[in-house]
Amino acid sequence: MTWPASAAEAPLAPLCSGDGSFSLHSAAFGEAFHSPRGAVREAFETFVMPSGLDRFRAGDELRVVELCVGTGTNTLALLQACAERDLRLQWWGLELDPRPLQLALASPAFRRPWGPALLLQLQTLATGERLLWGDARQQVVNGLPAALRGRTHLVWHDAFSPRRCPQLWSHELLQRLASLLAPEGRLVTYCAAAAVRASLRMAGLQLASIRADGPGAAGTWCHGTVASPAPLPAEACLRPLGAMEIEHLASRAGEPYRDPDGNADGASMLAAREQAQRRHPGPSTGSWRRRWGVGARGDTAAPQ
Ligand SMILES: C[S@@+](CC[C@H](N)C(=O)[O-])C[C@H]1O[C@@H](n2cnc3c(N)ncnc32)[C@H](O)[C@@H]1O
Repeated sequence: MTWPASAAEAPLAPLCSGDGSFSLHSAAFGEAFHSPRGAVREAFETFVMPSGLDRFRAGDELRVVELCVGTGTNTLALLQACAERDLRLQWWGLELDPRPLQLALASPAFRRPWGPALLLQLQTLATGERLLWGDARQQVVNGLPAALRGRTHLVWHDAFSPRRCPQLWSHELLQRLASLLAPEGRLVTYCAAAAVRASLRMAGLQLASIRADGPGAAGTWCHGTVASPAPLPAEACLRPLGAMEIEHLASRAGEPYRDPDGNADGASMLAAREQAQRRHPGPSTGSWRRRWGVGARGDTAAPQ
């Protein structure tokens, strides 16, 4: 596996995701940009709906930090949701590689589900100064305005998976992202990894799982995590963590990814975490999997 130093040259292959919408596969990270359910479907089910936008009133300002803008699919879903609710979006995006957005905007398949006004808004954001290019770890510290601290309504975190891109899931970065949140703000991610959830909890955030319902959800225990400084209210798409998930956090899988200086490479972060897991007092991830009937990829037939 190669790491982001070479990511800017490694091929990005267009692909058609599960709902027919445009996606990409990254050779550098060995992963697709979106869930097999489909890029547009994931944007709404995993990011827009769990954000609880109905809490806001028409005319309200919504401050959003989006990690890993990629093709801009999530950004378009956000723009659409804000237009439907008449919210005034104040958006900051973080992204390393300009190619995904260029490829997407040049693709008729990408443009098809969206109206011209939304595509124009995305193009405006893409060339504006609030799209902060570079390593998100540095941009969170040096690029985002200090005034966002404690005042951000939403942080959307859509990096490649922790095994492929641990740099963006470090305990230290997650603490920084948590500190951006307004008292009722939400960090929303597709990721349900115990290490990530444990770091978010250590940052003082309360956690909920994004329910996995509907077609294609069988065998998936959730569609991700919402984390907030405030208790998360009962909402149709959220549920409290189940016993299986709470035990997951206490197992060795809950050992965080560490990057104290904000510039570690992925391979050394994985190696350091493996060392730390050997000293972890909790049960092994394997014994947690056997107890709950969870497969190696995290799928489960166990009741919640
Ligand atoms: C899963 S994709 C994001 C998908 C995106 N949300 C979309 O809707 O298309 C992950 C993105 O993270 C970006 N990335 C990888 N390492 C990064 C880093 N260190 N800082 C910022 N972005 C990074 C990749 O270039 C890629 O676009």
